[in-house]
Amino acid sequence: MKVFSITNNKGGTGKTTTTLNLGAALSQKGFKVLLIDLDAQCNLSIAAGFKNSLHHIGELLVGESTFEDTIIKGKYMDLLPSSRLLLSFEYRLNVEPDSGYFLKEQLEGKEYDYVLIDCPPSLGTFTINALVASNYFIVPIQGENFAYVGLDEILQLCTKIKKRMNPNIKLGGILMNKYDMRTKFSQMVYAKLLENTDITLYKTNIRQDVSLMECTAFSKSIFEYAEDSRGATDFKALCEEVLLQN
Ligand SMILES: Nc1ncnc2c1ncn2[C@@H]1O[C@H](COP(=O)(O)OP(=O)(O)OP(=O)(O)O)[C@@H](O)[C@H]1O
Ligand SMILES: [Mg+2]
Repeated sequence: MKVFSITNNKGGTGKTTTTLNLGAALSQKGFKVLLIDLDAQCNLSIAAGFKNSLHHIGELLVGESTFEDTIIKGKYMDLLPSSRLLLSFEYRLNVEPDSGYFLKEQLEGKEYDYVLIDCPPSLGTFTINALVASNYFIVPIQGENFAYVGLDEILQLCTKIKKRMNPNIKLGGILMNKYDMRTKFSQMVYAKLLENTDITLYKTNIRQDVSLMECTAFSKSIFEYAEDSRGATDFKALCEEVLLQN
């Protein structure tokens, strides 16, 4: 089992879009995929098309529900859903000793090939739980603004987690999202990131594609919604890169 956290403390950079569509690409390849929604906005749970869940990840982490009762089994992928009430569960987790290890414990012995965790746009207890449980973290950034400003915060947190809590965690890569090839600016941001030898950058950029925005509104992955779109092509290419990471 390989576990990937999709994380960035900046909002709206493409964490949820990446989790859903990379998961869908992996499941198309025949892998057994689990998605985890750790964000109280519940965007992933909604986009993945799972409604009316009985239990949620917050309850699972504090021990109020079991893994079997919380998991929702989909046609292609399984999901541990979130809830609008998730933040109150973060407070409850915070008072527990070793509050960063709860998700890792829940995933032990589970039979999935890939687990993809959609993190909230903050670096609190939920993100720490995700990183402690992960082999890799992926940081989607937005090519259209100064995406590398603030990148240090997430990289520093991961350095601390690696040192103190999870020696196995590695940067899978920084992922340029909403890439617009036509603008010099996007190219400049990419070139600037390439100069930084401390970071790993995925070769694949996810281009700006309105289908990627629309598919989540229809609760479909990009492959179900627009198989021939740029978004589908890009997520397939990203999937191939991810498959090479061990
Ligand atoms: N490559 C893309 N092309 C066009 N639209 C995109 C692309 N990637 C993401 N979007 C859109 O941008 C918005 C933000 O993306 P997303 O929800 O994936 O970001 P996020 O990092 O999960 O946000 P948050 O921090 O709020 O959880 C969404 O409306 C999404 O549909
Ligand atoms: Mg999100």
